[in-house]
Amino acid sequence: MTNIMFDILKSPKLSVEEIKSRIKGSIGKNILFYERLISTNTLAYDIAEKSVEGTVVIADSQERGRGRRGRVWVSPPDKNIYMSVIIKPHLISHDFTLITLMSAVACAEALKRLTDLDIRIKWPNDLILNNKKVGGILTELKTYKKKIIFAVIGIGLNVNVDIDIYPQEIRNISTSLWKESGKIYSRSELIAEILNELDYWYGVLQRGDRFKIISEWKSLSCTLGKEVQIRVNNNCYSGFAESIDDEGMLMLRLSSGELKRISVGDVEAF
Ligand code: BTN
Repeated sequence: MTNIMFDILKSPKLSVEEIKSRIKGSIGKNILFYERLISTNTLAYDIAEKSVEGTVVIADSQERGRGRRGRVWVSPPDKNIYMSVIIKPHLISHDFTLITLMSAVACAEALKRLTDLDIRIKWPNDLILNNKKVGGILTELKTYKKKIIFAVIGIGLNVNVDIDIYPQEIRNISTSLWKESGKIYSRSELIAEILNELDYWYGVLQRGDRFKIISEWKSLSCTLGKEVQIRVNNNCYSGFAESIDDEGMLMLRLSSGELKRISVGDVEAF
């Protein structure tokens, strides 16, 4: 546990200087900070080709934060983390899922270390605390002839927000670090820890050690070993989440006995 907790009830302001002073690797050396943006992912995607790898776009609030499957990511000011990291991995588009899993592992490890809370991952990359979503990751790629030109890893994390201000449908399934612990956290410290952890796990990915990523993801998973329901496009599959394979695909045992390999979708445990 670190000095990340504050007794005051005010969410500390984001400080780029503080984040930079804590950065150990190349991810986060270059930070673009905005009080307000439409979406950090949208800006990061637009500037990625001309930006140095490891550039991070951070906003204190977003006007139209984007979630997965076209959903809105509610992004009020002063309380939460909204950031997008630009990477340029030597990978093919097929490795998309691994980037996603690697990012979730990095976020979960960083949060666990700084907060001591039991952060888990719901396949593929929802960050879960006490069965509710505390954070999400939106990974977007630019590819050319199946090669990845760049990836933007967008991370949204509910930190000091009172989730009761959110619309009912989000409130029912979401939470924040504050809501679960009653503690106010330094967003700057959290951001630096996440970026340092991302730097480490990105190194693992670049070295091709996908098994290390998969095995860490499995140890953090709250999906495996459960009956789950998965929506993939317009189809819905129910079954037992047996494992993920070495490409990060979910292996779902259907009631028919068939083992279905799922690459994208939304998992709901029931
Ligand atoms: C999800 O639906 O679970 C993914 C949510 C990702 C939200 C983050 S906030 C920072 C970045 N910018 C965006 O517009 N979206 C991502």
